[in-house]
Amino acid sequence: MRTAWNFHSAGQLVFGRGSCAQLGTLLSRRKLARVFVVADPRLQAAGLVEQVSRPLRESGIAAQVFAGGEPEPAVATATRAADVARQFGPDCVLGLGGGSNMDLAKIVAVLLAHGGEPARYFGFDNVPGPVAPLVCVPTTAGTGSEVSHAAVLTDTANHIKVSTLSQHLRPLVAVVDPALTDNCPRQVTADSGIDALTHAIEAYTAIDFDQLAAPDGAPVAYEGRYPLGECLAEKAISLIGQHLVAAVEGGGNRAGRDGMALAATLAGLAFSNCAVAVVHALEYPLGGAVHVSHGAGNGLLLPFVMRYNLPVRQAAFARIAALLGENVAGLDESAAAERAIAAVERIRGQIGIPTRLRDLGVKREQLPLFAEKAFAIKRLMGTNPRQPSERDLLGILNAAF
Ligand SMILES: NC(=O)c1ccc[n+]([C@@H]2O[C@H](COP(=O)([O-])OP(=O)(O)OC[C@H]3O[C@@H](n4cnc5c(N)ncnc54)[C@H](O)[C@@H]3O)[C@@H](O)[C@H]2O)c1
Ligand SMILES: [Zn+2]
Repeated sequence: MRTAWNFHSAGQLVFGRGSCAQLGTLLSRRKLARVFVVADPRLQAAGLVEQVSRPLRESGIAAQVFAGGEPEPAVATATRAADVARQFGPDCVLGLGGGSNMDLAKIVAVLLAHGGEPARYFGFDNVPGPVAPLVCVPTTAGTGSEVSHAAVLTDTANHIKVSTLSQHLRPLVAVVDPALTDNCPRQVTADSGIDALTHAIEAYTAIDFDQLAAPDGAPVAYEGRYPLGECLAEKAISLIGQHLVAAVEGGGNRAGRDGMALAATLAGLAFSNCAVAVVHALEYPLGGAVHVSHGAGNGLLLPFVMRYNLPVRQAAFARIAALLGENVAGLDESAAAERAIAAVERIRGQIGIPTRLRDLGVKREQLPLFAEKAFAIKRLMGTNPRQPSERDLLGILNAAF
């Protein structure tokens, strides 16, 4: 039984269209002069690497760009990136991109400070102290990694996503410039956007902080639901209800891009303090086994997990329905709560997220192993508002098949 909750964020969060022009001064002010920029070939081709390199150059900061990032990065890629970084000898690491590159940058910052292999730090609270100064600049509106304490890699040998969670992984500076997402491809906009919705909904419907099975004062990966997280999640859900479809359909729609950039960061603050839960637990083995992005996997699973959680979170779901723009006037709480699931299914359909596991090439025989692997991620079982058995997880997967 816990009686107090904690809130953490990036050391400084800069938000605004055009704000990436401030990168040079933000770093100079901290006496940082050699930056290792983690990026990838698509961002280079899109001109985004140049957009962040220019203000660095203008402030006399030396930058080396590592363009070897990849979607859902493998553990070996992080090791390779850290080797390249060591040869350059940076005094800070800048993650530019979606969650994939930002997470890679986080692990590079860990390896620069503490050495060894990434696997040494997997799980919660295994990073022994501060990491190399970390700056994150998102180019998707999705993961919230720019403010979060998480870094996710893919363990290609064991077919599962692996998280490193530590308060030391919160960036020193996060610069969220919605203009960097203006040309984000349609599919990436959709997938990362529904990931943000999943973060907000899992945080908003998580177990209450005072019900978390952890001693008072002990550090935990996630705190459970508490009022500040609820505020952030509510605002994120309503922004996503307003802007996700427009951002996907009307690429250059500025209001849509700005709204989603804010929503993703707020959802990142909410989930990385309160919780993600069963949706993310099920996505880890799914994403490790078949080729699907983290966001699309979550988006597919989200309504099925909501249905499982509905009996214990009716009031929260009723509120989510309203936040997503459903007309719930005159409905009783249970009917309004149902509308939340309908709203998520509607949005999922509008932005083209797959709706069935079999459509991803999953075989029914794989489901028991997914359930077993997800059930083993205890921190994500413990944050769910309803404590699932492995059999319950299999039930959810069968429904989603
Ligand atoms: N650390 C966290 O807190 C956290 C939270 C959720 C998810 N994740 C992880 O983040 C990853 C997913 O990140 P994501 O959804 O942001 O996508 P991503 O980083 O995997 O990017 C997908 C593709 O889109 C391209 N891209 C990104 N922005 C672009 C832009 N503006 N213009 C053109 N191309 C662009 C990238 O180059 C990449 O090829 C997964 O590995 C997931 O597990 C991390
Ligand atoms: Zn996520």
